[in-house]
Amino acid sequence: MPLQRNLSADRNETAGIQMKCRVIAVLGTRPEAIKLALVIRELRRRSDDFETAVVHTGQHRTMLDHALQFFNIKPDFDLDVMRPQQTLSSLTARVLDTVENACRRFEPHMVLVQGDTTTAFASALAAYYCKISVGHIEAGLRSHDIYNPFPEEVNRRLVGVMTEIHFAPTAMARDNLLSEGVPNGKIVVTGNTVVDTLRALSHLPQSWENTPLADIPHDGCRLVLVTSHRRESWGTDQENMCLALKDLVKQHPDIRVIYPVHMNPNVRSTVNALLQGSDRIHLTEPLDYITFVSLLQRCFMVLTDSGGVQEEAPTFGKPVLVLRKVTERPEASQFGMAKIIGMSRDNIVSEAERLLDDADAYLDMSQGANPYGDGHGSERIVEAVARWHQKKTPLLEPDKEFKLPPKPQPRRRKSDLANAKTAAAGKS
Ligand code: UD1
Ligand code: UDP
Repeated sequence: MPLQRNLSADRNETAGIQMKCRVIAVLGTRPEAIKLALVIRELRRRSDDFETAVVHTGQHRTMLDHALQFFNIKPDFDLDVMRPQQTLSSLTARVLDTVENACRRFEPHMVLVQGDTTTAFASALAAYYCKISVGHIEAGLRSHDIYNPFPEEVNRRLVGVMTEIHFAPTAMARDNLLSEGVPNGKIVVTGNTVVDTLRALSHLPQSWENTPLADIPHDGCRLVLVTSHRRESWGTDQENMCLALKDLVKQHPDIRVIYPVHMNPNVRSTVNALLQGSDRIHLTEPLDYITFVSLLQRCFMVLTDSGGVQEEAPTFGKPVLVLRKVTERPEASQFGMAKIIGMSRDNIVSEAERLLDDADAYLDMSQGANPYGDGHGSERIVEAVARWHQKKTPLLEPDKEFKLPPKPQPRRRKSDLANAKTAAAGKS
């Protein structure tokens, strides 16, 4: 039975007695569950300070339910909005209506939303219509192009307009918000909570028995992990990417491509039509989180358009080729751990070949600490919400905020040494 605010709580609040902070955490898609799992755990751990309800909009079903089971999150409200081939407008309308209803029943002080999905945007709007404060986790990422990623860039910006506390994962995200006029006092730099989730995985499975990866032969081939699902890539770009993967396996007998295919039918139809049955290209169902992370740990490199995967791969030192024209997560490319390569067939092949064939180029992209987080984002977020509720400022002491790790130093290569010697010889 859904939770409801009790009347004695109302009386205490009117009498000026500090009440527990009532928080709704909303999730609807796979990445939201993965990134909110530790925030929800921390809210529940601090049960003296918080009363927490989890709202599952049901924007995703199978893909999200896997993650909820894995993290043992039991939603208090399950709104079941997913429809096959849902349009953005109908999805937005259903989330808006049902989340508003949940807000009216639970009467939270704050609604926490995560990221840039339609669940995040429509839930923030529902909270705003109920005059409930919004806390935006993963705020301030910007590609500065409203159609890339679509509709996520605009979803994220619209949430920002309605937000009371902006939880920016990095300093760069905070700078984006400041440049849009958000007051510094409303921004907390937390680190991305996906790094908290990764660090909480105590051990990764050594075997892929009973998983969709069980049939991958152990023949010494290097594994290339691929994921892609973005709306702006459907059609020609996605087809080019599939053809590039075929070129790569043809030219490199020592690689296998593993591609867990997203459940969106628009993605599946293209990928299945072009890649099913191809030698050394393994299409699988979406993997459960722990299996996916163990694949990330064991693969040679990653080709992806996923936001979350871009943020996770640096934890394992895996180079990422980003299958997009722009990214709102530039930190890994600035650290030399990722490269944005677009969706042209030739470019995908040549950039992947550079990493497959050039050991120095590979090493350059596989060193350094994860620039997105340090594993304490969830604690910072929950502490800042508690302080906000107690009307304390600042929301978090500046020295407790997430700081970028040092940028990896360029490695010295044999060729650099030879060039330096030649230059020195020329001078003398
Ligand atoms: C959504 C988010 C995207 C996020 C991605 C993470 C929006 C607009 N898009 O994209 O930002 O990066 O999730 O994965 O918020 N489906 C299933 N079962 C599932 C999930 C999806 O069958 O468990 C199918 C359904 O036919 C559904 C379709 O996929 O209608 C599209 O789902 P939707 O949530 O609208 O978009 P995604 O492409 O999944
Ligand atoms: N992921 C997973 N199984 C898969 C593919 C991805 O558990 O088969 C996880 C991945 O580790 C990351 C998240 O899903 O944490 C990313 O989700 P997705 O790519 O769907 O969305 P995005 O991050 O692009 O919004």
